[in-house]
Amino acid sequence: MLKTGEPVLDKAQIERRVAELGPWFHDLDLDGVRTAPDHFLWGYPENKYKRFRHVIPEDLSGKSVLDIGCNAGFYSFEMKRRGAARVLGIDHDERYLEQARFAAGVFGLTDIEFRRGEVWDVGALGERFDVVVFMGVLYHLRHPLLALDLIREHVADDLLLFQSLQAGSKGMYRPDPDYDFFDGLGEFDRPEWPRMHFIEQRYAGDPTNWWVPNEAASAGMLRAAGFDIVEHPDTDVFLCRAAAAPAGAAVYPAKGSLA
Ligand SMILES: C[S@@+](CC[C@H](N)C(=O)[O-])C[C@H]1O[C@@H](n2cnc3c(N)ncnc32)[C@H](O)[C@@H]1O
Repeated sequence: MLKTGEPVLDKAQIERRVAELGPWFHDLDLDGVRTAPDHFLWGYPENKYKRFRHVIPEDLSGKSVLDIGCNAGFYSFEMKRRGAARVLGIDHDERYLEQARFAAGVFGLTDIEFRRGEVWDVGALGERFDVVVFMGVLYHLRHPLLALDLIREHVADDLLLFQSLQAGSKGMYRPDPDYDFFDGLGEFDRPEWPRMHFIEQRYAGDPTNWWVPNEAASAGMLRAAGFDIVEHPDTDVFLCRAAAAPAGAAVYPAKGSLA
């Protein structure tokens, strides 16, 4: 397929480059070449996306999108295909960004910017976005609520698309506004209580898996960071809208710099 301004690659060339850039987490279809056909999450994230794509506005014309932890760019590409005017994908792993840039070239979606960056430094972007995509990153963080606070404070202007690996009880249990110091402690033992599971060692061989929330904890943290949940199309997927920051929410100044 001819891509304006891009070298035309035949299938063998794409296959070679895909192999050089691997291993891939995102299973993209690059002109017939699959990037992660043997990955244990087969067809990821396309198969997952099918379950919640309907909650994202079909037309993002004129909108700006920040994809945090963009990996090989699947969600950046999808938001661009919905007409977003500006798409910025950041990830702290340069290897994934190389994959994303290569895939963008094959797709002919070359006006997406892929930049190295940590979620901790979003304040340094100095830019707010109509849509922030924060999918599959929270459980990789040592300080998950801080990340949500930073996103709300510095970059989220309207929509947040959020997903996390979850474990434990399902459901959106919402605790009472307050509890008695002694009598209330027992409430924490309810299985449906918002709960984070701490991983001191490893999960699935990955030392960057730190905290796995249950469904109620994902929802509670989103609310606590100043997001209203407007759609909940899958147990681990939330579409939120930036709301007023809750009383007592921490404010973190912008610092650091993103190259
Ligand atoms: C499980 S993948 C999810 C990729 C994609 N967002 C998705 O949902 O398919 C997690 C991604 O987040 C990136 N990541 C992890 N911690 C990060 C951090 N502190 N700042 C930026 N990116 C991070 C990883 O490099 C990886 O690409």
